[in-house]
Amino acid sequence: MEKKDYKRTLVTCALPYANGPVHIGHLAGVYVPADIYVRYLRMRGEDVLYVCGSDEHGVPITIKARQQGVSPQDVVDKYNRIIRDSFSGLGINFDIYGRTSSAAHHKNASDFFRKLYDEGKFITRESEQYYDPEAQTFLADRYIVGTCPRCGNEGAYGDQCEKCGSTLSPEELINPRSKLSGAAPVKKKTTHWYLPLNKYESWLSEWILENHKEWKTNVYGQCKSWIDGGLQPRAVSRDLDWGVPVPVEGAEGKVLYVWFDAPIGYISNTIELLPDSWEQWWKSEDTKLVHFIGKDNIVFHCIVFPSMLKAHGEFILPENVPANEFLNLEGDKISTSRNWAVWAHEYLQDFPGKEDVLRYVLTANAPQTSDNDFSWKDFQQRNNSELVAVFGNFVNRAIVLTHKYFEGKVPARGDLLPEDWDALAQIPELRKSLEDNIAHYKFREALKDAMGIARVGNKYISDTEPWKVAKTDMARCATILNVSLQICADLALAFEPFTPFAAERLRRMLGVCLEAGTDHRAGEQVSANTYRAGEGAALHTHAAGVTCPCEASVCLDWEMLGSEELLPEGHQVGAAELLFAKIEDDVIQVQLDRLDAIRAEREAAEKAEAAKRVAPQKDEVTFEDFEKMDIRTATVLAAEKVPQTDKLLKLTIDTGIDTRTIVSGIAAFYSPEDMLGKQICILANLKPRKIRGIESQGMILMAAQPDGTMRFITPQEVLQNGSQVG
Ligand code: MF3
Ligand code: ZN
Repeated sequence: MEKKDYKRTLVTCALPYANGPVHIGHLAGVYVPADIYVRYLRMRGEDVLYVCGSDEHGVPITIKARQQGVSPQDVVDKYNRIIRDSFSGLGINFDIYGRTSSAAHHKNASDFFRKLYDEGKFITRESEQYYDPEAQTFLADRYIVGTCPRCGNEGAYGDQCEKCGSTLSPEELINPRSKLSGAAPVKKKTTHWYLPLNKYESWLSEWILENHKEWKTNVYGQCKSWIDGGLQPRAVSRDLDWGVPVPVEGAEGKVLYVWFDAPIGYISNTIELLPDSWEQWWKSEDTKLVHFIGKDNIVFHCIVFPSMLKAHGEFILPENVPANEFLNLEGDKISTSRNWAVWAHEYLQDFPGKEDVLRYVLTANAPQTSDNDFSWKDFQQRNNSELVAVFGNFVNRAIVLTHKYFEGKVPARGDLLPEDWDALAQIPELRKSLEDNIAHYKFREALKDAMGIARVGNKYISDTEPWKVAKTDMARCATILNVSLQICADLALAFEPFTPFAAERLRRMLGVCLEAGTDHRAGEQVSANTYRAGEGAALHTHAAGVTCPCEASVCLDWEMLGSEELLPEGHQVGAAELLFAKIEDDVIQVQLDRLDAIRAEREAAEKAEAAKRVAPQKDEVTFEDFEKMDIRTATVLAAEKVPQTDKLLKLTIDTGIDTRTIVSGIAAFYSPEDMLGKQICILANLKPRKIRGIESQGMILMAAQPDGTMRFITPQEVLQNGSQVG
């Protein structure tokens, strides 16, 4: 059960690895939902801290650095910047975006480890690890390559084959080699610190399985299967030279395991932002801690990190961990190594001004309960027929008509007719549903509710036709537009969490501002506009005591959503701007072509790979087994197609013993003329069998090539027919 009376909310987003850019899968799974949640809570006046940063340790970063001939620090510097820019480009503005390579984090993570170490919370274990005798260093599983025992891929890693997706251990690799030196790895003893998760099992079971039954079923289910499966001690250190050094004497060459230090980064980053007041966010039971993550992070955020926090003893635990499943792209799993992704930074370049469209589509298709798919056609469709045709169209008509008939001033509202009441009455209901859905982390459904308000407005203005009414009854037209403008203002509120750029454009059109909570970067009450206006913007104070850079006379807040009068009569509305623009086919085609090219390249590479691969050797046979086969040289005397088949040739063969018929499935590779007069090898004593009514007395020996084509085997020089081969 969720505790009810929190005073503040600390929202964390999984720290992205700084070894590549972020893609739509990351955005849909973690960052867009978190951002919706944070914006929503801020609009409701709640005190929220929004923390993220980059995860800059781990083996893949060192591998990337080696591949590119640069230092790991160079790699993380580069991607930290790209990722950070992608987030802000999409309106995802964390209060702090820290880095785990920072000195402050190193110190904080070391202190955390040291406290557990001093209090005897770890155990040590000796184990055998792979070691590179030439490079004289231990090898992470990722640093061992070899042939995959499942699919034959020669570049499989010691932890995984990226070709067939199998999870592997280095022991399973055929012909394992060190990525560093190419040497065959040897086993060597090493000692590491372990967090004995088994000791936390019953506590975890009570905390999650008993007391957090409300967690999402995918999250709860994973936790249950981990706990039911029995927890084992987990190593918290590694033999590696990139990471937070283990702060213990005699631990040279050892660093904290990346999954030990990274979540501590949430705390480090909070300290960096709020050196004097961070403790209220991490040590007060009044703080609601929510971790937004993807499904591959569940065990770390629900089992391992909470056990670390529990062992430490001073910190709060997450109230919820709303993890999402994965997003696919055009029906295929998103894959960084195969470049099968839509990258956030590329999207921002290709679709300037359409940040909201991506946020909208990723929310509408969020992989909330199961994996989901992103397709460009759906992206175009949702933009054109939902954002443009419903939301944008409604707003545009309401504002343009207000200018046309009433000089841009909110007209007076006369008596309301049933259709007016009907429209207005739906909005508080949709608001209630939206609030409920967000409270339960159902952002897809919440977005439907927001869109529901736009649908109400669009239908209302279409049904009431104020442009026609204007010809006969200006007072009625005024009422209709008044109601329509109120709904526009509702939309400016309802869409702020989902499409903040459009919501801001809409507020500008309506000449209104938005109240929102505390900016912890400035330490004061500010409006949502201030968040985006950035430092140095001229601020003025609203009636509510909120500072804001806007010129608006009306300041909206969430509590007004669905009420009767958000915009007073006579309020000046600004000029109509385009809320959303149609996306044409050619723009989508560019994206589809790009993906097609990647797919074609991959398929060609896979084919070339496959063409090189030979079938594995068959089981052993004895010489006696082999001797049973009577293989002879023979010559084709006549050849014809077997009628009504594509594959079969009927061959008349001089075997040296006799002249006989053999039916062979080679028509796809040879024409009858190709075969005529050719000397070949046959298995002469194969039991005859009928094929298409023709008795076939033997078999032609063919070599099957890896690409699936077949070629017959012919002697180097012409031999006597009937010569025995063996
Ligand atoms: N870097 C990890 C990933 O991308 C997430 C780390 S979350 C943290 O999967 F809690 F460890 F920071
Ligand atoms: Zn494989």
